[in-house]
Amino acid sequence: MKMRKIIIANWKMNPQSLEEAKSIFNGTKRAAAKLKKTLTVVCPPFVYLSTLGSSISKGKLSFQAGAQDLFWKEKGSYTGEISAEMLKSVGAKYVIVGHSERREYFGESNDIVNKKIKAGLKAGLNVVLCVGEKDREPGVFLRYIKDEIEEGLKGIQRVFLKKLIIAYEPIWAIGKKGPAADSPEDVLQMSIYIKKILLPIAGKELMPKIPILYGGSVNPKNAEGFLRDAGVQGLLIGHESLVPEHFGEILKIAEKI
Ligand code: 13P
Repeated sequence: MKMRKIIIANWKMNPQSLEEAKSIFNGTKRAAAKLKKTLTVVCPPFVYLSTLGSSISKGKLSFQAGAQDLFWKEKGSYTGEISAEMLKSVGAKYVIVGHSERREYFGESNDIVNKKIKAGLKAGLNVVLCVGEKDREPGVFLRYIKDEIEEGLKGIQRVFLKKLIIAYEPIWAIGKKGPAADSPEDVLQMSIYIKKILLPIAGKELMPKIPILYGGSVNPKNAEGFLRDAGVQGLLIGHESLVPEHFGEILKIAEKI
């Protein structure tokens, strides 16, 4: 069965005003409106989510909003935090968890990531677990990815994994302007490796249904290679998702593959 492509925009801490956010969002929505076989998910900063998420027409399943993080508690005295229920109440259907920038700047361990994944899945959100190595030190980096997945998914019942997505984002390939992305050949190897790790966790029925995405300096020039040759079902896109024309081109490529 051919699965639809999933293209997720991670805006990170951009743009700097609600006005700009609306403009990028509307441009993206227009580009996504023509698509039939591709799911587009836009993950803006929390503060814009409510305004943007509420402008998505109900029943429009191929264009969705998501968040870039969440906290694992349902409510209470956790200053500055946002719960899964809060995200759902403003229209988010997806949440990114364990992005390497959160791991690096906010000290998120696999244990914290695990709690967040549990909270997101339990609340019925689609959770995008990000994994990726800092560098390709032989003998070390494969273990690193394995730990991120195994510890991130520890103690989660299989039924909840139906809403899990894995995004492979090698840290060294993130945020580059030039030809700095990983290669489709290497990502193919990694996607096979990730599936192997997932097999005992998810079981043979469910494992093939867990989408694996690639992220790291994806642009309109290299997107096709990843979508065609890297064994992935979609892409997680940072800086190019802030330029609706470029993001729209990537969506078109996804749609035609
Ligand atoms: P860039 O596309 O800017 O490399 O960012 C990738 C990323 O971190 C998406 O989550």
